[in-house]
Amino acid sequence: MNRRVLLAAAAAIGVAAMPFSVLAQAYPTKPITMIVPFAAGGPTDALARVLGQRMSEALGQQIVIENVGGAGGTIGVNKAAKATPDGYTLLFTHMGTLAVNIALYKSLPYDSQKDLEPIGLGGTNPMVLVVKKDLPVKNFAEFQAYVKANQKKVQYGMAGIGAASHLGGLMLNSMMQVEVLEIPYKGTGPALNDLVSGQFDYMVDQAVNVLAQIQAGNIKALGVSTLKPLPQLPGVPTIDATLKGYEVTIWNGFFAPKGTPKEIIAKVDQALLATLADEKIRARLTELAVDVPTPQEATPDGLRALLKASIDKWVPAVKAAGVKPE
Ligand code: MLT
Repeated sequence: MNRRVLLAAAAAIGVAAMPFSVLAQAYPTKPITMIVPFAAGGPTDALARVLGQRMSEALGQQIVIENVGGAGGTIGVNKAAKATPDGYTLLFTHMGTLAVNIALYKSLPYDSQKDLEPIGLGGTNPMVLVVKKDLPVKNFAEFQAYVKANQKKVQYGMAGIGAASHLGGLMLNSMMQVEVLEIPYKGTGPALNDLVSGQFDYMVDQAVNVLAQIQAGNIKALGVSTLKPLPQLPGVPTIDATLKGYEVTIWNGFFAPKGTPKEIIAKVDQALLATLADEKIRARLTELAVDVPTPQEATPDGLRALLKASIDKWVPAVKAAGVKPE
């Protein structure tokens, strides 16, 4: 059945009466909402927009980003998990909201492995320790000494419990053995604005969000969270060079509510694969220090396996860092 025949049939018998599998063949026939569970202007939003625009072209329908921030991304993820599984509500989120936070909340309103269908990996991001411009430190060793000397006064910004910036910060603080004040935001987009204006001291955030402000000299970068320095930040050492074993990278992926027809998942995945194969998109992601997924990683099975591996890795690691669930 071609698309026009399907649409005519849908109009004749009423869309509600059509089986999901028939609707899936015509998909998409109207704009798609993509929930981003953090504020606009942050890393998840930025990546969703770069990929989403090209995926819209591949699907022939607009992808409309809906930012649903708060509670470390759990509000938005929950909204997506409970949405009608018809392909018109999708989710773009990161591993903090699906894996890390299992160790940080006494109870979550969703089960990331049971309530969502993985579609494919969108990108993996290194993080950067950034400090306000006038913090009186020039390198990581000075930063560590400063934080130790000013414990319980120093403030770090993060995007709520279980956010990527929370994971980056809590692993750092735990390894430095310091207690500092936590300033929560609905996303690191708004947090970054406050760091630039000097309203708190530091943040560990995904490179995609902070590169431009570092390059403009509005904040200082003292270390990267990967085991190798980033070509996008020449001269910035790894945190691991001083704090042995510190390594955090954040993956971001596309999901749909559980029960979304397989044909729809496959169509969205085809659009993702086409996007990731586009040289312009690859160049833009590389410029933003985003590690571009392989075609296998950008599939439902690839992302499902990554989610499981991340739960297995991070839940015990966060518990070992001594953070009590809220
Ligand atoms: C986070 O810390 O989880 C992210 O930076 C969220 C965001 O996209 O703002």
